Amino acid sequence: ATERTLSIIKPDATRRNLTGKINAKFEEAGLRIIAQKRIHLTKAQAGKFYEVHKERPFYDELCEFMASAPVVVQVLEGEGAIVKNREVMGATNPADAAPGTIRAEFAQSVGENSVHGSDAPETAAAEIAFYFSGLELVG
Ligand code: CMP
Repeated sequence: ATERTLSIIKPDATRRNLTGKINAKFEEAGLRIIAQKRIHLTKAQAGKFYEVHKERPFYDELCEFMASAPVVVQVLEGEGAIVKNREVMGATNPADAAPGTIRAEFAQSVGENSVHGSDAPETAAAEIAFYFSGLELVG
């Protein structure tokens, strides 16, 4: 089925001017960017977005990092978009990411791993609603 997923191009990637190269990977995989904006999160906003991780040891570092430079938040649409996006991103830790994936090519570490993508339909809906109104989704 056609799905939508929330993607974030993270500060390590925007800093290195990789937005276009990363978007090309999505488009080559058949994912359509139906909404996109560049924003600079506050640490509090990053904390709210990553609230499910708040008990993890890396939570504070993660929030600092996500607020350290602009991010590009986007909605990707396509057949099986959630799983497809996870395939294009590669494993969370770039050391484990398959060749040709975004994280294998661009990520610097498990924390500075260039992209975020929703992991399931329920989280995708919640994460899209966190950043976008319905009017901004132009499929
Ligand atoms: P993401 O998909 O954005 O969701 C949570 C993020 O936490 C994850 O990608 C990683 O970037 C980050 N993360 C996971 N494990 C670690 C870790 N051990 N140290 C720092 N950041 C981590």
